[in-house]
Amino acid sequence: MLAIDEKTITDAAIAQMSGTSDPRLKQIMECLVRHLHAFAREIDLTPEEWIDGIKFLTAVGQTCTPYRQEFILLSDTLGLSSLVNSLHDRRATESGTKTSLLGPFYRQDSPQRKLGESIASDPKGKEICIYGRVTDADGNAIPNASVQIWQTDDEGVYDLQRNDPSVMDLRGWYHADSEGCYHLRTVRPLGYMIPMDGPVGDMVRAQHRHGFRPAHIHFLIGAPGYRELVTALYLATDEHIDSDTVFGVTESLVTETRTNDPASPFSNLPSIRFDFKLAKAKATDASGRVGADPSQITKSAAH
Ligand code: BEZ
Ligand code: FE
Repeated sequence: MLAIDEKTITDAAIAQMSGTSDPRLKQIMECLVRHLHAFAREIDLTPEEWIDGIKFLTAVGQTCTPYRQEFILLSDTLGLSSLVNSLHDRRATESGTKTSLLGPFYRQDSPQRKLGESIASDPKGKEICIYGRVTDADGNAIPNASVQIWQTDDEGVYDLQRNDPSVMDLRGWYHADSEGCYHLRTVRPLGYMIPMDGPVGDMVRAQHRHGFRPAHIHFLIGAPGYRELVTALYLATDEHIDSDTVFGVTESLVTETRTNDPASPFSNLPSIRFDFKLAKAKATDASGRVGADPSQITKSAAH
C-alpha cells in the first residue's frame, strides 16, 4: 500500500482520476491537481488558510445571481479572463484586432440603429463620433459586418445600473455599409469602479487596488465566416489607463478622440477612427466571449 504524504499525494490523486473517458477533461483535471498541489506545497498552506480560502470561494458563489457572476469578476481581477482572451487570440489562424473582456453589461437585444445615429438617448455629456472600417486580416472590406456597441454614460454608469434596468441606453447594433465602413455618434464615456460590494471587492480593497476600469467603449463585431470579435477601445487620457483592475487594456486598443478630423463623417465632433480586423473562422473555433453568460442578460435584467 502506498504511503500517502506530501510528495506522493499528487500522483495518487491523478491515478484515481485516470479512468476519465473525456481526454480533454482528463488533461484539465490532472493539470489542475498538479498545479493546486504545487501551490499548496510552495506556500506551505495551513489549515486556517485553507478554510479561509474555502470561506472566500463560498462567499463568491453565494454572491452570484442570474445577473451577477462574482466568479467571473474574480477571474477578471486575477487576470485569468485576460489570459484566456490572449490564448484565444493566439489560436486564430490570422491576426485580427485583439480581444478584450465582454464584461457583465452586455445585452444581446440592443436596439438596431442606422449608421450615423447616436446610441445616447440624452445628449448629456460630450458628444463624440466613432468611425472606421471592418476588414479581414488583409484589409479587405467585410460588407455589412454586424457592429454591436455598449458603454457607460458621462458619469460612468451603464443603463443596467440605473433605476429601471429595462430601459436600454448607450448601446446599439449597427451594420457596416458595402465598403465595411461604420460611423456612429455617442457621448464620451467615463471610467468606473467594478462591482465592489461583494467578496471580490473585499479582496481588491485588501490588496490596496483602486478598483477602477479606465473609460472604454465595448464592441462585439461579427460577420459570417469570421471569428466573432469581442473587444473594447480605451481612452488614453483616463487616469487609470495603465492600471485597469481587470487587465482589459492593451496598447493596440488604446485610442483618443481627435478634434477637426477632416476625414470624420462628423468633422465638427471629436472623433475616434478605429478599423477592426476580423480573422477567418476555423471549424473548431469556440466562442470568444470571456464575460457574463449573454443568455442571462435580457431586457428585464437587474444588476
Ligand atoms: C466591463 O467592462 O463592463 C467590466 C469588465 C469586467 C468586470 C467588470 C466590468
Ligand atoms: Fe465596461
